[in-house]
Amino acid sequence: MAAPSLKFKVRHVSPRVAAEERQRLLSDPGFGRIFTEHMVRVRWDEAHGWHGAELVPYQPLTLDPGTAVLHYSQAVFEGLKAFRQASGGVAAFRADAHASRFRNSARRLALPELPEDTFLEAIDVLLDADHEWVPEAPEHSLYLRPLMFASDVSLSVHPAPDVTFLLIASPSGSYFPRGVKPVTVWLSEDFSRAAPGGTGAAKTGGNYAGGLLAQAQATAQGCDQVVWLDSHEHRWVEEMGGMNLCFVFGRDDGAKVMTPALTGTLLPGVTRDSLLVLGRDLGYEVEEGRISVDEWRDGCERGSLTEVFACGTAAVITPVGAVKSAHGAWMVGDGGPGPVSMRLRKALVEVQRGIAPDPHEWLHHARVSSRD
Ligand code: COI
Repeated sequence: MAAPSLKFKVRHVSPRVAAEERQRLLSDPGFGRIFTEHMVRVRWDEAHGWHGAELVPYQPLTLDPGTAVLHYSQAVFEGLKAFRQASGGVAAFRADAHASRFRNSARRLALPELPEDTFLEAIDVLLDADHEWVPEAPEHSLYLRPLMFASDVSLSVHPAPDVTFLLIASPSGSYFPRGVKPVTVWLSEDFSRAAPGGTGAAKTGGNYAGGLLAQAQATAQGCDQVVWLDSHEHRWVEEMGGMNLCFVFGRDDGAKVMTPALTGTLLPGVTRDSLLVLGRDLGYEVEEGRISVDEWRDGCERGSLTEVFACGTAAVITPVGAVKSAHGAWMVGDGGPGPVSMRLRKALVEVQRGIAPDPHEWLHHARVSSRD
């Protein structure tokens, strides 16, 4: 690979967490609540472009209360995972796809695009420093969170002339505390996640903040998650919470895996894309299409729609067992995890952990240097 366009200054710290305490934390990490020893920071401004790339100790930020992102939310992020490999070493899954989506999100939010080689180098530098924080357990990984925000101090609404990129890492277990236990979903007909021409296809915090009230409504209805419908007709299924949705029609080798097409209002999930490829590899028919709420209910009642699952980096594959809306409720299959969902999950996890071959070259192997 060509040398990265930015050279990183590396400042290691002596570990603040003793090895024994680190092992204790890694044995039950939860999701996104503990962080490693270091982080990466890169600056951008109009005069110098990207500069000042460095690995520094993980630390709080000091922000002027007038910092633009606190007011106008000009910010984007990514979520990807690094896995301990069966043969030793550590690899990040589809780092290049996340780098590319990060650029697309930045463009939509009028932020500068971070070169993909700098995104990958940031991951390499952080994994080199903190590889001991990659958990061993089968359902655990090191969740990497790149983010970029408007760091100039100004209350005028404008594309930031000064931007900060950070990469932090959090050893994590299942996103949903109950693991692969199926979730119950609430169909939101009052709220919309995204509208044509909006920011739905970008990974930006506002999309998640705008969903919290609908999520609270779902919880009040006794559901785990909210399902988003299209903003125009409230009829076509789009996403679940912060994840994509897949629908399985038929059974066994004759099953078809369908996911709502990327109309511009959906987030182009990397897990979604990986499952379309793996589904095809496993011999299933795969389709990017559309499904209405009526088709979802009728398909479940007739038995032609056999499984539904949500997919995303954090949650991997999470089955949907039951659906509720203001107009009624229904079960998906027998309400338990379906065989096609679980076969796809196993296939994905085995590539991620280096247990199965990686024919699509999805693993970005970290270079881990010895500092002894
Ligand atoms: C991810 O799946 O990585 C996400 O960013 C979703 C978020 C709800 C954790």
